[in-house]
Amino acid sequence: MLRITSGQTECGCTPQGGAPNLRPNHGKVRGCIARNISAWPISLFGREWFRSPRSVGAIAPSSAYLAHAITNGLSKTDGPVLELGPGTGAFTRALMERGVLPEQIAAIEASEGFAATLAGQLSRVTVIHGDAARISQLTPFGPSGAALIICGLPLLSMPPAKVLRILSGCMRSLRQDGELRLFTYGPRCPVSKVIRARLGLVARRIAFVPMNIPPASVFSLRQEVHGL
Ligand SMILES: C[S@@+](CC[C@H](N)C(=O)[O-])C[C@H]1O[C@@H](n2cnc3c(N)ncnc32)[C@H](O)[C@@H]1O
Repeated sequence: MLRITSGQTECGCTPQGGAPNLRPNHGKVRGCIARNISAWPISLFGREWFRSPRSVGAIAPSSAYLAHAITNGLSKTDGPVLELGPGTGAFTRALMERGVLPEQIAAIEASEGFAATLAGQLSRVTVIHGDAARISQLTPFGPSGAALIICGLPLLSMPPAKVLRILSGCMRSLRQDGELRLFTYGPRCPVSKVIRARLGLVARRIAFVPMNIPPASVFSLRQEVHGL
C-alpha cells in the first residue's frame, strides 16, 4: 500500500468535474470558472481508461449532477467518510462542498495515476493507493469506523467473490448505523440479492440522474442485521 500525501490544494472552490457550485457568492468566481472549463479530468480519465478500461468501468468522469446526488443531504457532521474508487475526485470534491472536512475523508484508489493526481490536488484528504478488496486493512478510521462509505467502484465488472469481499469489508469498516452509497448505470442495485441477503443489507434507490454519461442511479445500502 502506498499512502499518498503531497502538494498544496490549489483552491477551495469546486473544481472541474466536481459538484455544482452551491455557493454562488464564492469569492474567486473568475478563477473558479476557468478551472471548471478545463479539460484535465477528461484527459486524465481517458488516459487511465486506455490503460485499464475494465478497472475504470466508465466512459466518462461522473457528472456534477451525479456527485450532487450521491452526496445529497450530507453536511459537516457526516464524517468520517471513506470513498472507494475516487477516480478524478468528483465525489470527493462534492463531499467537501457539502462541508465534510477533508481530514475526515479517506479515499482508496487502485490506479496510481488517479491516486497521485488526487493526492496532489487535495492535500488534506487521505488518499490511499490500494485495492478496495483490502479495505479492512487500509481504512485509517480504526475500530470506531466510518459513518459513510461512498463507492465509485465498477462492481458490475468484478467477479462476485471480489464484490462479496469488498462489501463485507465495507460492513466491517462502517459504524453500526453507517450507510453505504453507490451508483450504477444499470436498472438494479449492482450488489446481487445473494450478497445482500448474506450480509443482511437492505438497498434503496435514492436518486436517478439522467444528466450523466451514461444516466445513473444512486443506491443506499444499510445493514439491517449486524455481525454477519
Ligand atoms: C467509475 S470510475 C469512478 C469515477 C469517479 N466517480 C470519477 O468521476 O472520476 C471507478 C474507479 O474505481 C477505481 N477502481 C477500480 N477497481 C478498484 C479497486 N479494486 N480498488 C480501488 N479502486 C478501484 C478505478 O481506478 C476508477 O478510478
